Amino acid sequence: MLGTFTYCNPTKLYFGEDALQNLPRELANYGKNIVLIYGGGSIKKNGIYDAVTKILADCGKNVAEIAGVMPNPTVDKLYEGIEIARAHNADLLLAVGGGSVCDYAKAVSVSVNCREDPWEKYYLRFEEPDCEVLPVGCVLTMVGTGSEMNAGSVITNPHTHQKIGHVFADEKIMPRFSILNPKYTLTLPHYQMVAGIYDIFNHICEQYFSGEDDNTSDYLSEGLMRSVIHASRIANQNPQDYEARSNLMWSATWALNTLVSRGKSTDWMVHMLGQAAGAYTDATHGMTLSAVSLPYYRHIMPYGLAKFKRFAVNVWDVEPTGKSDEDIAVQGLAAMEDWMRELGLVMKLSDLGATEEMLEGIAHGVLVMSGGYHVLDRKEILEILKESL
Ligand code: NZQ
Ligand code: ZN
Repeated sequence: MLGTFTYCNPTKLYFGEDALQNLPRELANYGKNIVLIYGGGSIKKNGIYDAVTKILADCGKNVAEIAGVMPNPTVDKLYEGIEIARAHNADLLLAVGGGSVCDYAKAVSVSVNCREDPWEKYYLRFEEPDCEVLPVGCVLTMVGTGSEMNAGSVITNPHTHQKIGHVFADEKIMPRFSILNPKYTLTLPHYQMVAGIYDIFNHICEQYFSGEDDNTSDYLSEGLMRSVIHASRIANQNPQDYEARSNLMWSATWALNTLVSRGKSTDWMVHMLGQAAGAYTDATHGMTLSAVSLPYYRHIMPYGLAKFKRFAVNVWDVEPTGKSDEDIAVQGLAAMEDWMRELGLVMKLSDLGATEEMLEGIAHGVLVMSGGYHVLDRKEILEILKESL
């Protein structure tokens, strides 16, 4: 472990079947005016909306709503929400939903008191807020992003075909509290469940595939990956298995709550490729990642061979005896591919609506990061996208 870092994560988590019972205790810490933020209506069908609004009413809160936050929330929706939160003089933003709703709440939080255009300030210039930010609380209903315990917020601008994530440096942007009841995730469609599972797994990979020092973060990552693979196989067969869904929920939080990135330079290129594709297709986040992953990892494997070998042996149980490092690494990725196919993940961008004509534009939208084993140039990005099509 050769890094120099600070670690602080102030999000308070309540986990388990009765986690929502803790909401009144948290609400007592804030003023009367609550803005309840949710998505396209799943919470109205599965009873979560009723349970939350009853608690808000019992606590005497004055509630305004931002409804209809779409998957991959847009900048136009952000502008709309800022106006609602301002008009309501919000004391707390309560996000009830998945990563999209939670990310969106953070974007509103840093924008309500901001005098500049938030898209330009936070998503194009990557600045930190210099205004007062509103506290965010979260009741999580979809597992994958880790947004419940991190300061990430991804917003899409469909006018310019840009999908950009800002991971804010200030831990005040992290939710103040998050309520994690694995039961809430049992109504997710299979497609969303497996997309979320791959999102978890890839978050860990993005941090794991960087650096050469002996780092505790890598051992933690391997344990998390093994737990995700194990639980995913059970959940794939029986989505109602509470224990497996509960392990997935907890793994998702730890996969991207800043812990396993400590002391790591981190890669994030699968996400950059996937997000650029998402900006053109509005596809489900986890599926954009699964579609580009194998071409990307096969491309960078030679540059990070020792880590890919370790991944094969420690995560996928590839037997190393008598094989070259390259053979071992190749077998590790093959085992990952088998698992991805077993879950039914999308393996091609064309299955998400991407076309050959879009590829130049998608390639142009890919932000190039330099923390992984190899820095891609534009030609390589286009090649990987072509292979992913
Ligand atoms: O909108 P509703 O009707 O609620 O339906 C949602 C949505 O259609 C549905 N859903 C959620 N909970 C449900 C449910 N359906 C039935 N039962 C439930 N319990 O699932 C669909 C997807 O929800 P969404 O919130 O979009 O999914 P996810 O959690 O994957 O969030 C995706 C967004 O998060 C960003 C992505 O880019 C994308 O914009 N990310 C945020 C990150 C972060 N904050 O650190 C990191 C990630 O890498 C990711 O980029
Ligand atoms: Zn992700």
